[in-house]
Amino acid sequence: MAVDTSMRTPSAATPQTKQESENPTVPIKAWYYNDNDDLPSKPHQYSPNREVSIDHLQKLGVLTWTQIEADGYENNRFLNKIKAVRGYNYEEVLTVAPGKLPNFEANTKKFFMEHLHDHEEIRFILDGIGYEDVRDFDGQWIRIEIKKGDLIVLPPGMYHRFTLDEKQYLKALLLYQGTPKRIQFEKYPETDSMEVRLDYVQSVLERELQSPSERQLISESMNQVLAATTKAMEVITV
Ligand SMILES: [Fe+2]
Repeated sequence: MAVDTSMRTPSAATPQTKQESENPTVPIKAWYYNDNDDLPSKPHQYSPNREVSIDHLQKLGVLTWTQIEADGYENNRFLNKIKAVRGYNYEEVLTVAPGKLPNFEANTKKFFMEHLHDHEEIRFILDGIGYEDVRDFDGQWIRIEIKKGDLIVLPPGMYHRFTLDEKQYLKALLLYQGTPKRIQFEKYPETDSMEVRLDYVQSVLERELQSPSERQLISESMNQVLAATTKAMEVITV
């Protein structure tokens, strides 16, 4: 199973909850992406803005923590507890900005290509602002604003992309479980059929797509198939 649900709520490191997201002082924000501008770094909000709740993100398998002290993060007990509980034992600092990141144009273009990983993508933001765009159940893009003090975990197999905001500066701590592979699988038909993608779809998307009425229809359909199969077997037996 690619998506870790057993460790979603470590006792000493609780992700943002629905209740917290209703508090206007909590800074992680997410909204549906309005494809109204060619520049990825624009906010791309609808008017009025169509906000997405933390609860909704959690259903997609996205975990977020916020207001973690980023200065002196090496000695931050809260962050260290999260790392220990979730097995994040490798880390590196990456600065994404012109003049800081080699091949800035090519790399930022690559980051904005829709892709997935066969492992979690974990980012603790040390400074600056960026956007993680993730696919909703129905394929719409959801834009998540990440900034200093935010920690975000995207599950394996989830399509996403990243861009800086208009200030063009983000410094992040990249965390990994084990040695990083640094491979992004861009969206192609063969990526759709990767085991990690299928695991994600099965464990998260299909479950959430089914409304009670849809579940009822599927159940009735399965019963009809079962009945037809039973009848066919009776014929064969006779
Ligand atoms: Fe990624």
